[in-house]
Amino acid sequence: MIIVIDGPAGSGKSSTARAIANRLNIEYLDSGALYRAATLIYLEADCDKEAFFNLLDKKDISFYYRNQLFHIAIDGKSVTDDIRTEAVAENVSEVAAMPDVRAFVNELMREVVKDGAYIAEGRDLGTAVFPNAELKFYMWADLDERARRRFDERKDKNPDLTFRQVKESIARRDQKDEKRETDPLKKAEDAIEIDTTGLTFEQQVDQICLEVKQRIEF
Ligand code: DC
Repeated sequence: MIIVIDGPAGSGKSSTARAIANRLNIEYLDSGALYRAATLIYLEADCDKEAFFNLLDKKDISFYYRNQLFHIAIDGKSVTDDIRTEAVAENVSEVAAMPDVRAFVNELMREVVKDGAYIAEGRDLGTAVFPNAELKFYMWADLDERARRRFDERKDKNPDLTFRQVKESIARRDQKDEKRETDPLKKAEDAIEIDTTGLTFEQQVDQICLEVKQRIEF
């Protein structure tokens, strides 16, 4: 069983999907984290694309969700924190636009959700990866609100960061995610749209949980 949430960066997909996984006692899958792990491999390898795809194919990427955190490891070494750096954020859209990388990540995800009940979040899950998902949501919020959320999340760890930098970085990513040729960010026709601008976190979680409970029996 798979429920998917797609939407742009900072729309609240990740925190919402985790809260729903906890409430419904199902697994959580963060597809962006898989693209970030691929990006880390790309940055560390510092090689051409051909060599990178060969290397990626040989990597063992494993993950699990526990205590509110999506843990991820490459060849047995945890990269849960390493995938959240600004360097990865700046390069991930470029790496995620490579069709070979998308095929690799999609295969990984389809394999893992065969067993169990999952809520997964990303950009193209309802359109390209799981077109037959039991339930699909598309979450969004206006750019200023998304940038404010990301800025509030990060400012303590990175005191030099400005709101403007975060807003520009998100806008650049939106642009790349929406314009890429392979599986761009797009609302699936049968997805339920949730505009989170002005909603509190509790309100958005309640709204999605209600839809899930009305449509899926646990
Ligand atoms: O959700 P996130 O910010 O961690 O995602 C990181 C990047 O991965 C994002 O810029 C776009 C890409 N991504 C994607 O192309 N397709 C997905 N299903 C999930 C993420």
